[in-house]
Amino acid sequence: MAEQGLHGDLAEKLLDWYDAHARVLPWRAKPGVLPDPYHVWLSEIMLQQTTVAAVRDYYIKFLKLWPAIEDLAAASQDDALRAWAGLGYYARARNLHACAKVIMRDWNGKFPSTEAELRTLPGIGPYTSAAIASIAFDRPHAAVDGNVERVIARLYAIKTPLPAAKPEIKERTQSLVPPKRAGDFAQALMDLGATICTPRVTNCQICPWTEHCGGRKAGVAESLPRKLPRLKIPTRHGIAFWVEREDGFVLLRRRPQKGLLGGMMEIPSTDWGAKPPRDVRPPIDAKWKKQKIQIEHTFTHFHLKLSVWTTVSSQLPDGDYSWVHKNDLEREALPSVMRKIVALLMG
Ligand code: ADE
Repeated sequence: MAEQGLHGDLAEKLLDWYDAHARVLPWRAKPGVLPDPYHVWLSEIMLQQTTVAAVRDYYIKFLKLWPAIEDLAAASQDDALRAWAGLGYYARARNLHACAKVIMRDWNGKFPSTEAELRTLPGIGPYTSAAIASIAFDRPHAAVDGNVERVIARLYAIKTPLPAAKPEIKERTQSLVPPKRAGDFAQALMDLGATICTPRVTNCQICPWTEHCGGRKAGVAESLPRKLPRLKIPTRHGIAFWVEREDGFVLLRRRPQKGLLGGMMEIPSTDWGAKPPRDVRPPIDAKWKKQKIQIEHTFTHFHLKLSVWTTVSSQLPDGDYSWVHKNDLEREALPSVMRKIVALLMG
């Protein structure tokens, strides 16, 4: 079959499969209707680095709190961070809020529709701009995430390891995008990767692309995409200080705006260094109790092991500290690592 015809055939087969098997997800519009760009944008930002299962409830909560982009733009950054707490990668929440403000200020409250314009917005990179342009505006762009990389690497039996294979995968995906229903095509590819062509198991017998799949024919589908071995990430250590007042209020500190977990609240702690801290300076002078259990958390670039010291005191140190009642901690913009400490001490 001529290349063009084969591409059209692949797109058609995938779209037919999608019409029958699309996952029902809260941000998807009814068949034949273009979804609201606000919904598409919000879901795509949340879905970066996160699974559909983890995102669903957050997405619903955000829309309840802020039904339209002007509502989100009018909210405080702290409220946005609070609602995001637990989803991880908090720069996404800061950028989300900043983007809502830019859309109101510079775009009259309406998302631009081209990939190039979308890419100028905070937090919107090559993947998200292609996803919004295709899903919300039906423009023929290829949105390539990890799921799509896997499916395309298998379809074309691409043996070059990631990340070197990225340009080829992007080009191959782009040439499959049909001139109509580009948004459905993008989401169909994501669904295929999430439900059929999964990392460990390839359900080739029910795949709409099975007869065209180079990876299946060569018997190597499961081993693709190849990846360069992940470099080992270092472990850092620190001590978190849980200060509780007699009346049940707990001492929190706001992190600086710049850097990891910028602008989020935290249980005060030492710096996180390569070795357990030796010259420990707690935020207040008090009699400290060293808890036996450590909490562990993995960030993108390092593991963290935190010991926990506790005390009862009502001293408020200088700096960005505040008291929050134990029962209200759930509503604070506390990142997952800090929630682990709360769970340990309140559990
Ligand atoms: N992953 C990223 N975006 C998605 C979408 N729109 N539908 C399903 N999974 C996704």
